[in-house]
Amino acid sequence: MSSKSPDQGLAAVLQVLRGAAGPISGEYLAAQLGLSRAAVWKRVHRLKAQGYVIEGSPRRGYRLLAVPDKLLPEEVLQGLKTRRFTGPIHHFETLDSTNDLAKELAARGAPEGTVVVAETQTGGRGRLGREWNSPPGVGLYISLVLRPMLPPMELPQITLTTAVAVVRAVRRVAGVAPGIKWPNDLLINGKKLGGILTEMETESDRIRHVVVGLGLNVNNPGFPPGLAATATSLTLTAGKAFSRVNLLKVWLEEFEALYDRFLNQGFPEILEEWRRATVTLGTPVTVRQGPREISGQALDVAPDGALLLRTASGEIVRVTSGEISPGSSAEPGV
Ligand code: BTN
Repeated sequence: MSSKSPDQGLAAVLQVLRGAAGPISGEYLAAQLGLSRAAVWKRVHRLKAQGYVIEGSPRRGYRLLAVPDKLLPEEVLQGLKTRRFTGPIHHFETLDSTNDLAKELAARGAPEGTVVVAETQTGGRGRLGREWNSPPGVGLYISLVLRPMLPPMELPQITLTTAVAVVRAVRRVAGVAPGIKWPNDLLINGKKLGGILTEMETESDRIRHVVVGLGLNVNNPGFPPGLAATATSLTLTAGKAFSRVNLLKVWLEEFEALYDRFLNQGFPEILEEWRRATVTLGTPVTVRQGPREISGQALDVAPDGALLLRTASGEIVRVTSGEISPGSSAEPGV
């Protein structure tokens, strides 16, 4: 792990360096922070090891020249306007799966608002047991620990809320609005930009904790042959690179605003926004649930997040899980 939680010492040094108009002396830094000059030097050294470019000379002092393109807690928490996500942010260069670690931390009592991010995942997981392609330094691979006082049946609504937050964040940052494919795939021009994997632990009739995992293709210059036909990234869409730190911050802020609305006012308004963003409703689809397939017209999403399909026989079927694809299968409906 490169940084377990925001290191107050490092964050303080960065804050002074960021606020300075020009180079500042080690003596000044030490006085500002109440540290010895040796302690300042050690912290500057640690920041450099994380990728910060800091010019330092005994005569001219220290100057921050560049920050690394990494999802470091010090960067993500800088100016972040959330009440829940105030750290710790657990940041890793490499992790098997941010969801797996977040689940482990949650089981050990990690509070709501705990965040796990990785620059790359070696065992990133998608829905329905799929693998999530997680190349280093180009995507967002992030998991949140939440502890809502809700019954387990409301989990789909948290997933849909997360998808709406991604639509808002991508629109704000990149100026394009992804479509949502039920329940929570984010698409641009019919190709997959991102996905959400929500997992929970329950006790009797309430949620103990939820882990919301988001995978978003941000600066991927391309995809491996098996994915190239179906996946896209913001860079491929907009022809430029985006700050992953900024995108992550905007998503956390949008997520918190929507999650608060969901907890305090219920789901109706968020569902309305989800409906406006979806590309699924009004189209013929086939839902695959293991060996079972259901075809029909996607009519609506119920208040609890279930997809409502009208089959060829006119029956209305509620679908709560599965993978949908456009069009009807050759099989008759249910
Ligand atoms: C899907 O579309 O199937 C969901 C993909 C979810 C991927 C994210 S990446 C961060 C988090 N950690 C994981 O192992 N999976 C989720």
